[in-house]
Amino acid sequence: MDNPDAELAQAGPFDRADRNAVYRAIFTRRDVRGQFRPDPVPDDVLSRVLTAAHHAPSVGFMQPWSFIVLRGAEARARVHAVFAKANAEAAAMFPAGADSQYRALKLEGIREAPVNLCITCDPDRAGPVVLGRTHDKAMDAYSTVCAVQNLWLAARAEGLGVGWVSIFNRDELREALGIPAHVIPVAYLCLGWTSGVYRKPELELKGWRKRLPLGDVVRFEMWAGEERENPLLEQLRRDAQAVEAGDFVG
Ligand SMILES: Cc1cc2nc3c(=O)[nH]c(=O)nc-3n(C[C@H](O)[C@H](O)[C@H](O)COP(=O)(O)O)c2cc1C
Repeated sequence: MDNPDAELAQAGPFDRADRNAVYRAIFTRRDVRGQFRPDPVPDDVLSRVLTAAHHAPSVGFMQPWSFIVLRGAEARARVHAVFAKANAEAAAMFPAGADSQYRALKLEGIREAPVNLCITCDPDRAGPVVLGRTHDKAMDAYSTVCAVQNLWLAARAEGLGVGWVSIFNRDELREALGIPAHVIPVAYLCLGWTSGVYRKPELELKGWRKRLPLGDVVRFEMWAGEERENPLLEQLRRDAQAVEAGDFVG
């Protein structure tokens, strides 16, 4: 293009209703594991959420992702076997007490969800030297995660549940799906309509972990910055309360 500046557009705030729709998708998005309904996901819906994923940011615009769509029971059963083995190994890693709590959690919906997606990252997609990835090779995987989050939020807006399953031996998952050795399976997602979605993270409701106060994870100027009270921290507390009360307004 001769003059890219001719393509500049205004990017002001959305009007309030649209803004709140975005926040609503963010605050009501959940990881879904046990509430999948078997009815199929129409192609137009699946296409929209994949299109949202494909519009994620990526380092050097390399778009390192690919999306393997699994709808057949046989492929999903193969992946479930890979999960089951890793999940048994995972349970044994937790100390006594936590291991039984872990075993009681449902951590995937691979066979129940009518669609599974494996989202991969190909580090070679844009050649060996990638703008922006020159000093930190993980940036391509981070880009792929941005695509996952786009899809997850778009799915929430569509009313489609999504659950991320990460308990796999990576090489065994590669083998189950015929993924080349240099390609990284970044995310394995279960998708489908749901019978209901928890209002809070399921792991919180089941006593595994709580959401941290946002003020505890915001630091100022340096990692060990001293500032513990300021107007932003007060605002963060008010916003946390508003989210909790369900009346956060953008
Ligand atoms: C990278 C990543 C991997 C995850 N892997 C799993 C998983 O293997 N099994 C599972 O049940 N949930 C998994 N989750 C979902 C998280 O447990 C969930 O996001 C978290 O508990 C907060 O709940 P929410 O997503 O409903 O807000 C994963 C989430 C992310 C971002």
